[in-house]
Amino acid sequence: MKNNFGIILISLFLKLATAEVLYYQPEQVHIAYGANIFEIIVTWSTFNETPNSLVEYGIGGLVLQAEGTSTLFVDGGKGKHSQYIHKVVLKKLTPDSTYQYHCGSDLGWSNLFNFKTAPDSPGWQPHLAIYGDMGNENAQSLVRLQEETQRGLYDAILHVGDFAYDMDSNNAEVGDQFMRQIESIAAYLPYMTCPGNHEEKYNFSNYRARFSMPSGPDSYMYSIDIGPLHVISISTEVYYFVEYGIKPLVFQYEWLEDNLAKANLPENREKQPWIIVMGHRPMYCSNTDMDDCTQHETLTRVGLPFLHFFGLEDLLYNYGVDLAIWAHEHSYERLWPVYNYTVYNGSYEQPYVNPGAPVQFTTGSAGCKEGTDHFIPKLPDWSAFRSSDYGYTRLKAHNSSHLYIEQISDDKSGEVIDSFWIVKDKHGLYPGSKMNWAKVDKMRLKNMNN
Ligand SMILES: *[C@@H]1O[C@H](CO)[C@@H](O)[C@H](O)[C@H]1NC(C)=O
Ligand SMILES: *[C@@H]1O[C@H](CO)[C@@H](O)[C@H](O)[C@H]1NC(C)=O
Ligand SMILES: *[C@@H]1O[C@H](CO)[C@@H](O)[C@H](O)[C@H]1NC(C)=O
Ligand SMILES: *[C@@H]1O[C@H](CO)[C@@H](O)[C@H](O)[C@H]1NC(C)=O
Ligand SMILES: [Fe+2]
Repeated sequence: MKNNFGIILISLFLKLATAEVLYYQPEQVHIAYGANIFEIIVTWSTFNETPNSLVEYGIGGLVLQAEGTSTLFVDGGKGKHSQYIHKVVLKKLTPDSTYQYHCGSDLGWSNLFNFKTAPDSPGWQPHLAIYGDMGNENAQSLVRLQEETQRGLYDAILHVGDFAYDMDSNNAEVGDQFMRQIESIAAYLPYMTCPGNHEEKYNFSNYRARFSMPSGPDSYMYSIDIGPLHVISISTEVYYFVEYGIKPLVFQYEWLEDNLAKANLPENREKQPWIIVMGHRPMYCSNTDMDDCTQHETLTRVGLPFLHFFGLEDLLYNYGVDLAIWAHEHSYERLWPVYNYTVYNGSYEQPYVNPGAPVQFTTGSAGCKEGTDHFIPKLPDWSAFRSSDYGYTRLKAHNSSHLYIEQISDDKSGEVIDSFWIVKDKHGLYPGSKMNWAKVDKMRLKNMNN
């Protein structure tokens, strides 16, 4: 009897010690806009497969349920770290409402989160936080962004590439850690992204698996209308990692021209007068690090070497883009309105009132273990303001003619170290720009046939 009991104990112990822990608990919860701002995509991970992928949600109670899909994601590293990434789309949300939600399955639910939908009115003034290059280690601006998110300051986040340094590191455990860290903001606000160079591994597999953007799976370019803003997100990386093929570059260029042509149809430009393009690597910068943006012939600016096909600066100029937002340089730099190295101030006194070219700034100093980048002593004549402080940018769409932008220094306890207004009496073409009207007409026909 006594002996038997011992054997039972030992075998029980062995069983416990060798039993596989099944991990069905949702983690790394984050949300993004879907096809429009009244659609929210909820994304999360579990380490074991669950029978379903569900979100329970509602205004003042979890009365609604939506079901989605899960996909096995296996990192390209040696450890073949794997997880199930779940995506559920919440459609036709009621404007101007606070929704509660949790996500999971019959085998486990996340914490309760909430998000607020935009009012469906032309007077809405969306307020965005914008930054790149955050990092898992030394995500310095995260604390302030968490606090401001919880105080309800923002409507959405734009993370302009370079996430965890790197998401694939340590068999993608760094990616998991980063996604857990940002849950405190990304589960509450649409977290809109574009890929950076630090996402390159295994053909951007971590980026594509973990983030759900409006264009659907496997796509790193999309546009989303946020009140008066038409925000276009592109991958500058297709110009730098051509070992993954030239096709993504050509495809994106043509997609971007179509998208810009459509955005310029009068009926669209009236609703979304502000056309904003975001991508990771800048065309211009005055840093000391010899990155491509310090060169005159930046690949994204002029296109492929020698041939100069697929240059993006001509597209931005010819299709009346108001603002271009970049990161990659671990610093903040605001430019005067510039095209092809010529400054087109609206006027000397008020350079951003009716500027003659797109306005650009770079905001890549949210954090990360690499430290911030420094500047050459001489201020180039296209550069207006520079800072190597850690920090991030805020953008507020005031109305159809006024857009407000400010830079926050985390090093200086949240101080606003730069601010400016872009003012436009009329949106549209810059003088001398060569919009492809045939393209616009084609988009018009396509629209009519839809
Ligand atoms: C990398 O991914 C892109 C986009 O999905 C695809 O078009 C391309 O063929 C891939 N390249 C390689 C080498 O797998
Ligand atoms: C840009 O400027 C260069 C001179 O620096 C000139 O050769 C080129 O033609 C210009 N490009 C356009 C599109 O105007
Ligand atoms: C643009 O405006 C700024 C601010 O007044 C001025 O410092 C700069 O020199 C101007 N650039 C040109 C080319 O006029
Ligand atoms: C936008 O707001 C500014 C500042 O409040 C105001 O001067 C301007 O007239 C407004 N523009 C439009 C088109 O309502
Ligand atoms: Fe970068």
